Amino acid sequence: MKAIFVTGTDTGIGKTVVTCGLAAFCSLRKGLDVGVMKPLEAGLTLHGKDLLPWDAILLKEASGSHDDLSLINPYCFESPLAPETASQLEHVHVDLEMLDRIYNQLEASHDILFMEGAGGVLVPY
Ligand SMILES: Nc1ncnc2c1ncn2[C@@H]1O[C@H](COP(=O)(O)OP(=O)(O)OP(=O)(O)O)[C@@H](O)[C@H]1O
Ligand SMILES: [Mg+2]
Repeated sequence: MKAIFVTGTDTGIGKTVVTCGLAAFCSLRKGLDVGVMKPLEAGLTLHGKDLLPWDAILLKEASGSHDDLSLINPYCFESPLAPETASQLEHVHVDLEMLDRIYNQLEASHDILFMEGAGGVLVPY
């Protein structure tokens, strides 16, 4: 199994679009069992009456992953800020060991795992 980490120079640069494309290609054209992860998502999207981690939802749809959204996206923050700042603002402790365990679980249970980073490459996490 392989894990591919997608990051970019900034936020809004196309990480989700590219990751979804790669995930869909591997799943639909290559017949691979594809896993996805967006460990931290900050800036939820209002959909109807719900605030949702839209990147994680798009990644799940594109990949065909059956994993629970709570594994694909263990942490989501309402504030559209760097996750470290958003977690402090929202008083949420980010358990890196838990993220590691989920990562290992997803990596072990799929042929390939795509993980989208938060913001740009210099953002902590
Ligand atoms: N190659 C592209 N050509 C034109 N528009 C694009 C392209 N890639 C992404 N976009 C548009 O740019 C916007 C941001 O893309 P995307 O959500 O993939 O960025 P991101 O890097 O994942 O952002 P975030 O840091 O918020 O996760 C979207 O509205 C998307 O439609
Ligand atoms: Mg994104």
